[in-house]
Amino acid sequence: MKRLGVNIDHVATLRNARGELHPNPLYAAKFVKKAGADSITIHLREDRRHINDLDAKKICSIKNLLVNLEISTNSKIVEIALKLKPDFICIVPENRKEITTEGGLDLKKNKDKIKKIISKFAKKRIRTSLFINPSLNDIRIANEIKTDCIEIHTGHLANLVKSGRNFSKELVRVKKSSKLANNLGIEVHAGHGLDYKTTKLLTKINEIQEFNIGHFLIGESVFYGLNKIINNFKKIIKV
Ligand code: PXP
Repeated sequence: MKRLGVNIDHVATLRNARGELHPNPLYAAKFVKKAGADSITIHLREDRRHINDLDAKKICSIKNLLVNLEISTNSKIVEIALKLKPDFICIVPENRKEITTEGGLDLKKNKDKIKKIISKFAKKRIRTSLFINPSLNDIRIANEIKTDCIEIHTGHLANLVKSGRNFSKELVRVKKSSKLANNLGIEVHAGHGLDYKTTKLLTKINEIQEFNIGHFLIGESVFYGLNKIINNFKKIIKV
């Protein structure tokens, strides 16, 4: 069974736009779980532009909710994450001025640093995932540094699909990367820019076990409600 993870950072973005308390990401986390999400994702960014430390602390302490915490390799953030003890960690690249995570990790450059971070979480029995581009070389490095999972950055594929351009080469890249990772014993996830169409395309890749979806899902919920949209995605990924 493929799983759906829902990224609720955008609820915090909306709250912060007013500088008040509503809408509350803690409530969103509980609501999304009730609506059928298998896990929730939050990204504690170095600039705290959406989820803040208190949100993360409260959300990580909700019982019976699987929390996937996205973090950069910043040592202060890693220390916070080790104390928060989420169920899962996803290490992502972070640049100050980016609007969203623009690409996968540079594993070649940061291999040793990331390896050390993975082992810190492994000691606490926290599953780690690396957010990477669909590249066979990166999968091989990910295997060397002993990650549990990889999350393939699907942003480029999603942009090609949305703009009606030819996406077949990129889809093959995702497919080959997923197969290699799976053969090496690494669990495969996919995320970024996913809407109904790109998610549907990716469900044909058996190796992908988890989809992490945020912006489109929350945006569409403004019109049709979270329950409905989560249900729609659940139906799409149930192959
Ligand atoms: N997965 C990861 C690792 C991400 O960094 C993001 C964006 O924060 C997502 C999934 C969700 O992307 P989107 O909001 O475009 O659905």
